[in-house]
Amino acid sequence: MKEEIVNTKNSAISQVLSARSVLELEEIRINFLGKNGRLTKLIKKLQELPKTQRRELGILINDSKNSLIAAIATQKRKLEEDSREWFDPTVPGKKPPVGHLHLITQAIEEISLIFERIGFVRVRYPEVEWDWFAFGSLNFGEYHPARDDWETFIVEQKPHPKYGQMILSPHTSSGQVREMWRVKKPPIRMINIAKCYRRQSDASHYPMFHQFEGLVVDKDISIANLKGTLNYFAKEFYGLGAVSRIRPYNFPFTEPSFEVDFTCTVCKGKSRLPDGQVCKLCKEGWLEIGGAGMVHPNVLKAGGIDPKVFSGFAFGWGVERALMMKPGLGIPDIRILYSSDIRYLRQF
Ligand code: FA5
Repeated sequence: MKEEIVNTKNSAISQVLSARSVLELEEIRINFLGKNGRLTKLIKKLQELPKTQRRELGILINDSKNSLIAAIATQKRKLEEDSREWFDPTVPGKKPPVGHLHLITQAIEEISLIFERIGFVRVRYPEVEWDWFAFGSLNFGEYHPARDDWETFIVEQKPHPKYGQMILSPHTSSGQVREMWRVKKPPIRMINIAKCYRRQSDASHYPMFHQFEGLVVDKDISIANLKGTLNYFAKEFYGLGAVSRIRPYNFPFTEPSFEVDFTCTVCKGKSRLPDGQVCKLCKEGWLEIGGAGMVHPNVLKAGGIDPKVFSGFAFGWGVERALMMKPGLGIPDIRILYSSDIRYLRQF
């Protein structure tokens, strides 16, 4: 029986050492140590032997059982370690591509910060708006061409009994009266940056674009305050060398009204490109950035503000246009800004 015990143990251990999986190892364990296992049967057989042999063989069988249990545990650990994926922490990793904010979003953030630094509060008003806020409250005549569906996107919706047709807001000025209603009592220092929609598309116009609208209402606000604010913005956004001009203009909601131009950065104010071609973006060396003026008394009245006590200025500029004019960018066509060409997007 001694020989049988030693042979069984040796056979078990050699099977354990050549096991290739934890599952196989478990099968071997059951085969030798399970209820009807080969070693278990030998332990049971021990009872039938005379007492004199039982002690010596008992010690041997117990040692064999312990060696087998230890061998199974060691082999199991080894198999588990081998099956773990090999990982070398010193190999340089693969960098995942990192995105960034779109150029226009970056410009919006920069513009917000510039105005927040001088006390303007960033607000947002509906992009889908009633006619009255975009035109009526802003002193537009009933038959003003901008109200026509030739220029403005009109939403097929039952008109509001008081505020008229539903439209896609063509400018951020539609937030002026809403802001006066919100604040109720001046001072107002609003910067409203939002999407605007018009039926236009060429090198300097896009059907969906962004405007930033400033509105300041308080006692004794004058053109000097407006000019100071415009110059501050030009210096912050374009740098010290920025050149601007203000031209008299006409907007129904400001009196007097102006248009603000900056030197075109694509042709550097020369109106022609180095190859002699006329600059497609500005055609004349100046690029209109937007309008400005002193808030019309009728607009203050629509906003519930007494024009005899308070006065204000407003300006509304295109974000894309302002951005395209940044020195060094030289984007000659607004449509490039909205292309999804990764070669263009990667540059910023
Ligand atoms: C207005 O929209 C006035 N609401 C601006 C204003 C506000 C005047 C407050 C006085 C007081 P205008 O239509 O000129 O004005 O547009 C202003 C600017 O928006 C333009 O100069 C241009 O920079 C930009 N813009 C207008 N239409 C488009 C377009 N289709 N695509 C890109 N930018 C545009």
